[in-house]
Amino acid sequence: MDAEIEYVAPTGDAEAGEKTFRSCKSCHSIVNTETEEVIYKGGKTGPNLYGVAYNKAASDEDFNYSSSLEEAGEKGLMWTEENFVAFVKDPKDFLKEHLGDDGARSKMSFKLRKDHEDVFAYLASVGPDMEAKTDK
Ligand code: HEC
Repeated sequence: MDAEIEYVAPTGDAEAGEKTFRSCKSCHSIVNTETEEVIYKGGKTGPNLYGVAYNKAASDEDFNYSSSLEEAGEKGLMWTEENFVAFVKDPKDFLKEHLGDDGARSKMSFKLRKDHEDVFAYLASVGPDMEAKTDK
């Protein structure tokens, strides 16, 4: 990860977020990429969400992202809470706006209606240690 962002603690409730994560599991798993420990067993239609919080978009090397999300990642899009919340509310709209491209598309067709911050807090809580990453 080369891009640097300021670490702002998640505002949501990780425990509640774990419950809400059920609506993501048909497509996403959470698997520690170093130890291969399965943190949340789900589907593989979408990328592994381990360490997604505060990371650069489109970072799962084993996943074939849409060209729009790939482009956003190359241009430095980071999954801060704010960007994450906007994305999961409406992935396609977020990418359109972010890239300034009306033709932008996302492979994620799902829209989360509520508790976005909680899911972010949950993902941050099961990701790699943030303080080590950001407290330099
Ligand atoms: C129907 C399947 C599906 C569901 C349900 C789904 N996703 Fe996704 N998700 C995807 C796909 C496919 C992508 C890749 C998008 C692309 O390439 O444009 C993705 C991408 C993402 C990304 C970007 C990851 C990265 O590596 O940059 C995040 C964050 C994300 N999803 C979060 C969620 C959350 C949180 C939920 C539940 C609230 C959820 N998704 C539900 C299929 C899904």
